[in-house]
Amino acid sequence: MDLTAANHRIPLSDGNSIPIIGLGTYSEPKLTSKGSCKTSVKMAIDVGYRHIDGAYIYRNEDEVGEAIREKIAEGRVKREDIFYCGKLWATHFEPERVRPYLEKTLKTLQLDYVDLYIIEMPMALKPGDEFYPRDKYGNWLYHNSNLCATWEVECHPYFTQRKLLEFCQQHDIVIVAYSPLGTSRNPLWVNVSFPPLLKDELLNSLGEKYNKTAAQVALRFNIQRRIVVIPKSFNPKRIKENFQIFDFSLTEEEMKSIEALNKNVRLVDLLLWSDHPEYPFHDEY
Ligand code: A2P
Repeated sequence: MDLTAANHRIPLSDGNSIPIIGLGTYSEPKLTSKGSCKTSVKMAIDVGYRHIDGAYIYRNEDEVGEAIREKIAEGRVKREDIFYCGKLWATHFEPERVRPYLEKTLKTLQLDYVDLYIIEMPMALKPGDEFYPRDKYGNWLYHNSNLCATWEVECHPYFTQRKLLEFCQQHDIVIVAYSPLGTSRNPLWVNVSFPPLLKDELLNSLGEKYNKTAAQVALRFNIQRRIVVIPKSFNPKRIKENFQIFDFSLTEEEMKSIEALNKNVRLVDLLLWSDHPEYPFHDEY
């Protein structure tokens, strides 16, 4: 079925479905003004987004909840039209901590349910109420989690994840790509040794051909491969821009040429935790 702005859900093997584009809502709290998350989520819903990606640890989940509830109250959407994904933070992987932490998310959102609840990252930190636990010398306090679950997958033209995509497609698993625009390039947790994805020559020249931006081409590349994208933006113009990806399509040849940009470079390398015994990004996926 063709994806359209009005109908862009793709089926999941359990009978549910997921909108193929979602609004990412992580923004460095210190650099983000209060209320901008709420305004952005409301605007995204007006533009046509039906999938919002958030987390308790982003410290703006209350604003996400308010925005969704206000749009429901206005009659713009019903709760079941919205797909909300929340996340379990690394200090709460112990089984007995999962439910209370999820309940915290529900209470913060003031919603009855989330549509998806995922493990934020595949390495545990010391369980407790301190989100970033360190000892008195400033060393990170790690924890062994024995995780055999899956987690979200970074995916964009510089990290196309072909092998993982083939495996998931064979097993009817839908991938959600975080950082589909190549991240906000915060050197604390991002590998910034590569030039910005959105400055890429090919993405820009294809953008010119279709009267689109490099960001729209990068997003279209993923959704054409049936990969869900969750670009973050709190900028009204870019929120709209990122949703305008259903009115053009890339040819097979163009898809191949974007695929060839792959550098196998993971931008979100979380090097600050690279000495964690379960640091996963040395392995191939
Ligand atoms: P802003 O919120 O000011 O728009 P990712 O989703 O890959 O993590 O990327 C998010 C980063 O990309 C944010 O810094 C966001 O900033 C920026 N961004 C989002 N949409 C666009 C766009 N269409 N063009 C350029 N930058 C964008």
